[in-house]
Parts: sequence; C-alpha cells; structure tokens
Amino acid sequence: MKSIKKITCIGAGYVGGPTMSVIAQKNPNVEVTVVDVNTARIAGWNDENLDNLPVYEPGLDGVVGEARGRNLFFSTDVDKAIDEADMIFISVNTPTKTYGKGKGQAADLKYIELCARQIAAVAKSDKIVVEKSTLPVRTAEALKSILDNTGNGVNFHILSNPEFLAEGTAVTDLHNPDRVLIGGENAEAIEALVQVYEAWVPRERILTTNLWSSELSKLVANAFLAQRVSSINAISELCEVTGANVDEVSRAIGHDSRIGAKFLKASVGFGGSCFQKDILNLVYIARSYNLTAVADYWEQVIILNDHQKVRFAENIIKTLYNTVNGKNIAFLGWAFKKDTNDTRESAAIYVADHLLDEEANVIVYDPKVPAEQIYKDLDYLGTRSPEENRRLVRVVNDPYEALSGAHAAAVLTEWDEFKDYDWAKIKETMKRPSFVFDGRKLLGRTELEELGFIYYAIGE
Ligand code: NAD
Ligand code: UGA
Repeated sequence: MKSIKKITCIGAGYVGGPTMSVIAQKNPNVEVTVVDVNTARIAGWNDENLDNLPVYEPGLDGVVGEARGRNLFFSTDVDKAIDEADMIFISVNTPTKTYGKGKGQAADLKYIELCARQIAAVAKSDKIVVEKSTLPVRTAEALKSILDNTGNGVNFHILSNPEFLAEGTAVTDLHNPDRVLIGGENAEAIEALVQVYEAWVPRERILTTNLWSSELSKLVANAFLAQRVSSINAISELCEVTGANVDEVSRAIGHDSRIGAKFLKASVGFGGSCFQKDILNLVYIARSYNLTAVADYWEQVIILNDHQKVRFAENIIKTLYNTVNGKNIAFLGWAFKKDTNDTRESAAIYVADHLLDEEANVIVYDPKVPAEQIYKDLDYLGTRSPEENRRLVRVVNDPYEALSGAHAAAVLTEWDEFKDYDWAKIKETMKRPSFVFDGRKLLGRTELEELGFIYYAIGE
C-alpha cells in the first residue's frame, strides 16, 4: 500500500476538527481536508481570528494556527475532498435515535449511511474508509455492504479508529494518547493508518485488533468511565446521610492501585454528548441479543446519573423552605465540564428544568457558553414554551451580576475562575440567608461558612 498523501475527514465537529488539526500538525507532508455540510462551522474553522474557532479547546488555536493553510484545510466541498483523498475519516455525529425502532436508545446511523453513500457515489479510486465516529459493534459490516454495492467498482478497506479524547483536554489527549486503537481486516490498510499516528505516537501505544473488538471497545471504555462516576455518585448520597465525606472516600479507595484515583470525583452528574448515548447504545445492543442481565446492569449507570441530577435540584428546593417560586437561583456554569463550550447533556440543563418547573428564576453565568445556546438547550427539552423559558431564565456576562440579589448560588460546572471570586463581596449582595449548592465540590466550605454562607456540597 502506498503511503497516505491526502486525508479527508467528513465532519468538522468536536472530534473531526481537533483530531485532524493534530494529524496535520504532526504530518506536514500529508494534506488534510476537513469537510462539513454546516457552512457556519466551516466558516468558523477558517476564521482569521483564532478566537472564533467553532470549538473551544485549550491550545487548539496554536495547532490550527500552525497547520491551517499549510496542509490543513476546511471546506464545504465534500465531493471534491472525497474524490481526492486516499483515506477518508467519517467523524459525523451518531446521536441517540429520537424516532422509530430503538427510539431513545439505539444510535441513529443516518448520517453515517449518508456519508457511505456519498463516498461510494463519488470515489473513482481505491479508498481506505476510517470509522472515527463512535458506532455500534458491527457497523463496519453495513458500511462495507453500502460501499461495495453502490460504488463504482473501486476497492474500499474499512478501519475502525475510535477516538478517546475528552473535551477540555482534547489537544493534550491527542498529543499524548494513552493508546490509539485501530481495528481492521486488511494488514496494508492498518499499516497505512499506523504510519499516520506513528508520526508522534510511540508504536507500542498503537493497538491493533479486529474490527468488532475495536468498535465495541469504544462503547465499553465510555461505559466503564461513566460507571465509575455513577459509582462514586451513589456513594456520595450514602456519605450525606452517614457523616462520611465522599472526597475522603475517593482518596482512600483511589490509593488502591487496583482501583486507581481517576474518575472518582463526585458531581451533580455526568454530562457530555457521549456517556449517556454510548451506554444507551450498549444497553440496546445487549437487549437486541436478549442479554437482559447485561443490559440491566449497564442501564443502572444512567438511572443513577438521572437520580443524581434530580436529587441535587430537589435538595435546593427543600433547603429553600420547600419553595423556589419567584426566587433567584444563580447558576455558575452551564457547560458539561470546565474548559469547553459544549453543553450537550449538561447536568445544568436538567437541574434548571427541574427548578423552572417550580417557577424559580434562574440566572446563568458561564464563561464560554452564549445565551442563545442556553435557551436552545432548554427549548429542546420541550418542557415549556420558548417564551416561558425566556421569562424565567436570564443569561448574564458577569458572575457578580448573576449572584447579586440571588437567594442561592448553584455551582454546576467546575470552572477554575469560580474559586477566585470575591466571595465576601458576593455575600453582601446576595439575599439572606445566602445558600451555596456546590455540585462540583469546588469551593471551600470553611471559607464560605466563615463568610456566613450556608454551604451544601455533594457527598458531605
Ligand atoms: P459534532 O456534532 O460536533 O460534529 C459532527 C459534524 O458532522 C457536524 O458538524 C455535522 O454538520 C457534520 N455532518 C453530519 N453529517 C454530515 C454529512 N453527511 N456530510 C458532512 N458533514 C456532516 O459531533 P462530535 O462531537 O464531533 O462527535 C462525532 C463522533 O465522534 C460521534 O460519533 C461521537 O460519539 C464521537 N466522539 C465524540 C467525542 C467528543 O468528545 N465529542 C469523543 C470521542 C468520540
Ligand atoms: C469522555 C471520555 O472521557 C473520553 O475518553 C471519550 O472519548 C469521550 O467521552 C467521548 O467519547 O465523547 P468527555 O465526555 O469529553 O470525555 O469528558 P469527561 O472528562 O469524560 O467527563 C464526562 C462527564 O463526567 C463530565 O460531565 C464530567 O464533569 C463528569 N465527571 C468526570 C465526573 O462527574 N466525575 C469524574 O470523576 C469525571
């Protein structure tokens, strides 16, 4: 197999954009083109001002600045990019189905199939097609069938190369991955992709497997990570009624090298576009093979996560004398974790929804999430009309404004800056008694209590 000269990636989102930027940065002799049907997104990636990239990730501006225009290009001309590429990554979204069979659980593969059909229709030379999106196990089989049956007689080799980056640390994760996983059947195709990664990843960290192991490992990795969060969140509730402190428990168990310290931070619940989607998908797959015990086991991770979000909201209501009607609740953070502008499945959305049902006034401050996104997230739930959401929710650009006149502050995202606020000044502007509900265990109990706040943190 000749070495790869041109790579195309379909999908310029949170994965396609950063991943291809790093591949281009580390392979200056390979031309990398990222395409998308979303013209606004592509315009953002091409914006001269690197502050306007559509994805916010620490360090990404530097990577894009280095490679863009040299060997990294962003375009809406999907056909041209497919035609010219030796290797095509598919990095489109694979959301949970919202209709039909598998509604609410199965992955919606319509965007994947559209890509396969477009590749087949356009390709006039052999291509390696790489699944970068997270997919149900055995999707490669369907892809191959579409490519071979609708194509122009050229050869397609399919590889699975799931992405393990986490948002907020995407660039460091890509620069220094724990492993790169490549599943495939054709040794030459696998080797071609290995060479792309070998430009910066040590060979021993590039794992190769068969297609199905690779596809399944991605779902399993996310399920295991989310399971740890739900496990510690389950313990956080037990801590609250027994006098144990969940941070101390995490530290105590995390020191056991068999358990390990990571992913044991209790929280208001995990969010993000993938944990819930991928576990639901795993549950759906298990059920489709009649593996009921397996499906029930993993479903519990989601059930516990939903419980944690509801529990946090209900604790706010209960503590505020069983009514939040007309009360001002200042939300610090809306993103699903710090250092990202991504709000998909953020716990903040569901906590807000619960409080809005009780007619609370929610005032939101997030350093990276714009007001339109916050209203869009709430409107999407369909719980109440867009007008009602705008009547009850106000989004501000200044945290002190959010907190002024608030009955309670709720920390929903662990943005570092929240720790550095002048909490003494904030105390003077808030209603009394002044409550802080810390869903991230970010602020210091002693300091806040000394200032006169009534402080509640998950798991204490
Ligand atoms: P995203 O929604 O941010 O980006 C997907 C992009 O694909 C969109 O911009 C969309 O316009 C584009 N697209 C869809 N269909 C297209 C088509 N036919 N032609 C051209 N463009 C098309 O999604 P994402 O967060 O980048 O996730 C992509 C995949 O990667 C998903 O399967 C996800 O599960 C997986 N993943 C995501 C993360 C993450 O941190 N977000 C991490 C690992 C894996
Ligand atoms: C996660 C995985 O970590 C990535 O490996 C994977 O590639 C990605 O999903 C994906 O497939 O999309 P991401 O969702 O970006 O990455 O971020 P995480 O750091 O995993 O956090 C997910 C959620 O769990 C966040 O809401 C975070 O606040 C929460 N979390 C995480 C906790 O509440 N406690 C923890 O100890 C860790």
